Amino acid sequence: MSAGPEATRRALRADLLDFTGDPGLGAPDAKTVRYRPDHWLMIDAGRIVDVRPAAQPPGGDWAREDHRGRLLLPGFVDTHVHSVQLDVIASYGTELLDWLERYTFPAERRHVDAAHALVQAEAFVDALLAHGSTAAVVFPSVHATSVDALFTAAQRRGMRLVAGKVLMDRHAPEDLRDDVAQAEADSETLIARWHGVGRLAYAVTPRFAATSTPQQLAMAGALLKRHDGLYMQTHVAESRAEVAWIAKLFPEARSYLDVYHHHGLLNERAVLAHGIWLDDADRRVLADSGAQIAHSPSSNLFLGSGLFDWQAMVDAGAEVSLASDVGGGTSLSMIRTMADAYRVQALRGVRLSAFKALHAATRGAAQALLLDHEIGSLEPGRVADVALWDWAVGPVAMQRDALARDLHERLFAWMMLADERALVTTLVAGRTQYKRPSDDSGASETP
Ligand code: GUN
Ligand code: ZN
Repeated sequence: MSAGPEATRRALRADLLDFTGDPGLGAPDAKTVRYRPDHWLMIDAGRIVDVRPAAQPPGGDWAREDHRGRLLLPGFVDTHVHSVQLDVIASYGTELLDWLERYTFPAERRHVDAAHALVQAEAFVDALLAHGSTAAVVFPSVHATSVDALFTAAQRRGMRLVAGKVLMDRHAPEDLRDDVAQAEADSETLIARWHGVGRLAYAVTPRFAATSTPQQLAMAGALLKRHDGLYMQTHVAESRAEVAWIAKLFPEARSYLDVYHHHGLLNERAVLAHGIWLDDADRRVLADSGAQIAHSPSSNLFLGSGLFDWQAMVDAGAEVSLASDVGGGTSLSMIRTMADAYRVQALRGVRLSAFKALHAATRGAAQALLLDHEIGSLEPGRVADVALWDWAVGPVAMQRDALARDLHERLFAWMMLADERALVTTLVAGRTQYKRPSDDSGASETP
């Protein structure tokens, strides 16, 4: 956080990078990449108002912050992450269903306590910002206390955040289960309290098909019909054991995804994590409904869930964003997430470009969430949610950076070698919400 009052008119000088469109999965193609090296990004009253070459600095009534030689990006959008799982990140030795029982459910149980929930929610939101993520689609726990805590923490920082009470009325420990009537009443209360307040939006959140009865899934579908602009988030087709379990629980469904489709849960604001074990018919349903898959490569590698077929999603015209899925994922860093996505695709014989990875973590995610008018690019009129990065930290990365021959090579080396330690500062709606503690360079040049 900044020490004193901040100017409302700020200009940041750096290398500006964002996208005007989808760069495509493989073969680096810079046509939709907008690279403006050594430019001023001008922010007034929380919004981006102008972009100018370094040679045309803004006038004396602007607070000028000179970060020449650094990289300025739109804030990352993490489309699937659990705010109540920081305590179980990096837990040893299990696959998905065991991991939920052994580590995750016990940690989520503690969020019934409002004081605990708020401390953890504040820490979570600050951790997002300290990794350069300024917007997120988040699972709290089944408890209304955890939802209030998370929205309160996000609201205090002015963040764009989508979340909702987890629905779970079976196959979970008793103190983590709700029932259809209570879940509906709690969801209605929380929607009235938070949906559309500031930059917050509510997501109807059935955890996954195994932990909701058909009656609860139907209730979730009814909530989506009843209220405008609600999001939906859940998990789908993550591990093979999970897929086999769903087939037993819903024998009449054509597929795992079909369970959600049947209950009216798929629409253009639906975010489904994982989607590893889908088929082409499922992908067509995703494309037709406008729902997106939140690809979570760190989690998929860590839990051994499988290798996501990104190319098949592109072929079907279905949307893909990137997500950390902490605590199944082992880092909140979207840079590490992009690097893991590259590794997953490499194992499938596909070479994910750094442009596509960065697009999926910024403008692509914003578009899939129908929020690209607000976030995801460095366009005048957008809210000034931005992150300032070093191109390289440490001698090895610096040497590699210096040798890069073109923009893709440079960005790719950054994506593979950088992490949150390269983050200098994070702005949310033009206000500093994270600043690297040791940072003494990039001195402000105030008139
Ligand atoms: N499927 C159902 N719940 C979870 C969860 O908390 N994390 C992951 N990765 N998958 C899930
Ligand atoms: Zn998850």
